[in-house]
Amino acid sequence: MTARALRGEVVSLRADPFLEDPADCLEHIPDALVVIEDGIIASVGPWDEAAARGLDVTHYPGGIITPGFIDAHVHYPQTQMIGAFGEGLLEWLEKYTFVAEQDFANRVHAEEVSAIFLRELLRAGTTTAAVYCTVHPQSVEAFFAESERFDTRMIAGKVLMDRNAPEALLDTPESAYADSKRLIEAWHGRGRQLYCITPRFAPSCSPEELAAAARLWREHPGTYVQTHLCETTAEIDWVLDLFPGHESYLDVYDRAGLVGPRAIFGHAVHMNERDFCRCHEAGAALAHCPTSNLFLGSGLFKVFEARRADRPVHVALGTDLGAGTAFSQLRSLDEAYKVAKLGGEKLTAAHGLWLATRGGAEALQLGDRLGQVAPGMEADLVVLDPAATPILEFRSRFARDLMERLFILMILGDDRAVRASWVAGRPVYDRDRADAFRYA
Ligand code: GUN
Ligand code: ZN
Repeated sequence: MTARALRGEVVSLRADPFLEDPADCLEHIPDALVVIEDGIIASVGPWDEAAARGLDVTHYPGGIITPGFIDAHVHYPQTQMIGAFGEGLLEWLEKYTFVAEQDFANRVHAEEVSAIFLRELLRAGTTTAAVYCTVHPQSVEAFFAESERFDTRMIAGKVLMDRNAPEALLDTPESAYADSKRLIEAWHGRGRQLYCITPRFAPSCSPEELAAAARLWREHPGTYVQTHLCETTAEIDWVLDLFPGHESYLDVYDRAGLVGPRAIFGHAVHMNERDFCRCHEAGAALAHCPTSNLFLGSGLFKVFEARRADRPVHVALGTDLGAGTAFSQLRSLDEAYKVAKLGGEKLTAAHGLWLATRGGAEALQLGDRLGQVAPGMEADLVVLDPAATPILEFRSRFARDLMERLFILMILGDDRAVRASWVAGRPVYDRDRADAFRYA
């Protein structure tokens, strides 16, 4: 088989802009050749006519090739309820979320939504995501089956919840354990799929349910845990009532055995210094979900505080759809910039690209294979079009340097700026083709 290659401008992160001068962190090749063999990047270098001979080269004139975006916190069953009006977190869950999620008892519905959701991710340039399914095992089966068709590296799992929700959405610690174990055995490490044990959040889990989650995690090394943490102050008060004698919301998960590498905590808006220190020491990851935190009015995540150089905590970027309002991580970064600015900080394009790519990969303990355009990495790539809309095209003409060009993309860009998405070395989405999507 002929090896594939891409030609275009390459931008990737060589270092962490939260720890080093952001201006020194970008790897940039204005006209590059990216060669792919067996789904892995074999080489990256300046365009070379001779080296390209005999390769199947796709040229993207004017396109910027970056690592595929990573979405570290998203709910696929909530695709049908994005933009649900008016409520804060706890009322929003009851009034909208728990109603929509009941539809996923139906496998056919789960298949339809999985198909739309994965296409929306790819249209937005997102090639890896940590995904909440619903309490129904068939919602997980449907999602992984669709992901496998694209060969996307997805991390997903069955939601565990045994209280404080409608009866139809509840499991028990016993069924939570048994169903998750079966799903782990079927899907974790099958092709590129990875399993995530998913206790929804402390208020919907009894201590026994959290213990079942911890047991699953202990018994299946390499699996993930995802849950919600410190999203709103009302939620925190409720958790401290439900779990008396705990020092903080994080402490509830910690004492249950759910804090460590491959644990992903969504939101973490209202954290204290001790919580940050514990996450740093444990290697746990926080998912910054700015469009969601603004939409529900939950608060402002302190990304520079979380990443403080003396005890940096892993931070990835999440959309948290359907409380989040866009699949596009460029939209998330636009909001992340404003959230940081309200906290007196300046989130550069290098910081933004870090959160959406290499930082996300490191947070998910996948930095050895995802998040960079570099040899040895899995070839999950996005091709961005800095002239995708009239205003992007016009504004970009006045950009003075690379950082400014990328910043403009981050502030004005959205899914229209995604020219193509490549997964495991194959173009699965092409904006400009009539049949835009292609299974692997
Ligand atoms: N906390 C518990 N469940 C959810 C959810 O589905 N979305 C958000 N944003 N927060 C939650
Ligand atoms: Zn969420």
